[in-house]
Amino acid sequence: VTTTHRLLTISGSMRTGSTNAAALAAARGCVPPGMIAEAYTGMADLPHFNPDDDGESVPAAVADLRARIHGVDAVVFSVPEYAGALPGTFKNLLDWTVGDGCLYRKPVAWINVSTTSGAVHAHASLRIVLGYTGADVVEDACVHLPVPRQAVTPAGTVEDPEILAGLRSALTVLATHLDALARATDPDEQVEAQPS
Ligand SMILES: Cc1cc2nc3c(=O)[nH]c(=O)nc-3n(C[C@H](O)[C@H](O)[C@H](O)COP(=O)(O)O)c2cc1C
Repeated sequence: VTTTHRLLTISGSMRTGSTNAAALAAARGCVPPGMIAEAYTGMADLPHFNPDDDGESVPAAVADLRARIHGVDAVVFSVPEYAGALPGTFKNLLDWTVGDGCLYRKPVAWINVSTTSGAVHAHASLRIVLGYTGADVVEDACVHLPVPRQAVTPAGTVEDPEILAGLRSALTVLATHLDALARATDPDEQVEAQPS
């Protein structure tokens, strides 16, 4: 069975020249065969989360975020640490995902690009928040690949061979996980398991 895996990357930094965004751009450029990746670029358009606005109709930017997540097989995050926590803008994005369950059982992974503290608080928090969303954290695809600012090219990506090798390896783990899920839900694979 040949299945195309669709991947959405979400950066938690809005900074021009962001190391997190660059790592994700590089990741999109080196996905394994059978995987296609697109970037989510709408974080700045999301309104401040307000449960009053989270009903049958939601702001257009929120509907777009949710549709993009529903439309892919997996999400890869890369997020900096601000003041010992997740950036508020990014936490705002995650809060908007809770209401419609778009991350529920969605395979997710993250790339931690921190070169200093390891951004351990942000990633511990990311794990907790993703736990609330019910996302399927693919542990072996979550990697710490330090990306120094000088490794970001003018085009906003990363060309360092070691970082690219780390990204390829993580994406291959993710693709293997998605292959296994696809096999588990493929009716042809299940025919033999049914009682005769
Ligand atoms: C307001 C602010 C607070 C920060 N707080 C932390 C922090 O608590 N821990 C940390 O490791 N880095 C901290 N940093 C450093 C950023 O995580 C670092 O600059 C990172 O590269 C930003 O990611 P980007 O290159 O994708 O924008 C902070 C940066 C800013 C601007």
